[in-house]
Amino acid sequence: MSAPSRLTGRRAFVTGAASGIGAAIARRLSSEGARVIVADRDLPGALALAGQIGASAIELDLADIEATQRAVREAGTLDILVNNVGVDQHAFFTKTTIAQWHQLIAANLESVLATTHAALPAMQSARYGRIVNIASEAGRMGSRGGAVYAAAKGGVIAFTRSIARENGPYGITANVVAPGPVDTPMLRNALAAGGAKLLEAMIASTLVGRLGQPEEVAAAVAFFAAQEAAFVTGETLGVSGGMGCGA
Ligand SMILES: NC(=O)c1ccc[n+]([C@@H]2O[C@H](COP(=O)([O-])OP(=O)(O)OC[C@H]3O[C@@H](n4cnc5c(N)ncnc54)[C@H](O)[C@@H]3O)[C@@H](O)[C@H]2O)c1
Repeated sequence: MSAPSRLTGRRAFVTGAASGIGAAIARRLSSEGARVIVADRDLPGALALAGQIGASAIELDLADIEATQRAVREAGTLDILVNNVGVDQHAFFTKTTIAQWHQLIAANLESVLATTHAALPAMQSARYGRIVNIASEAGRMGSRGGAVYAAAKGGVIAFTRSIARENGPYGITANVVAPGPVDTPMLRNALAAGGAKLLEAMIASTLVGRLGQPEEVAAAVAFFAAQEAAFVTGETLGVSGGMGCGA
């Protein structure tokens, strides 16, 4: 059971929060008392969610580093930064183009560098911060058909550990949540291309024999975002039905 006002008064910035896992995170943090900024390139979706949960919404392309840094600075001092945005494209590595590499690295990894770089100075001055990055089990295990995505997500994990090392003395923690297959628009798009066999393979890759729900990822994010997780940093928690256990 969650503590209802664990995040009261905390200011949270959640990227890619108009749908899927990001939307569940924004809802969860808001329900625990945080004042949430929903950042997404889908402004109508961001505004709709923000209206439902009493958050604010901004239109932002997180693959645009300068715009992202500006938006985070304009948001003022943040207590909680959740880097959730991510995109995937299924193709064997030899079939990918250099343009696709740049797109995937920009959205999945450089966006995390950009927000963190912009948010950290104010967090350091406040001597408080909670950074939670959404990677993927692909970042620990690799992905057949998702090599560049996996490389970016592995980069997010290594980056998060580095930020944890540099910022522990400032009261700032940085942790990763690594989802497995979770029922969201991203997963449904992959299934539309891959069909029933892909769904079966995804389910079989978990130890619990089902897809995850966005709310299950959000619950792990809320834990890392809370004051009570002050002694937990540099960690990667799989929320993946056990598919990454031992990774
Ligand atoms: N769903 C899964 O099975 C799964 C598994 C492992 C990891 N993840 C990770 O979880 C995170 C959320 O995934 P999801 O399944 O909820 O995805 P989703 O596609 O359902 O939602 C992603 C959101 O990000 C936004 N977005 C995408 N690119 C953007 C950009 N450049 N600028 C601004 N907004 C942008 C979209 O508009 C959308 O609202 C991602 O980092 C993803 O890699 C998801």
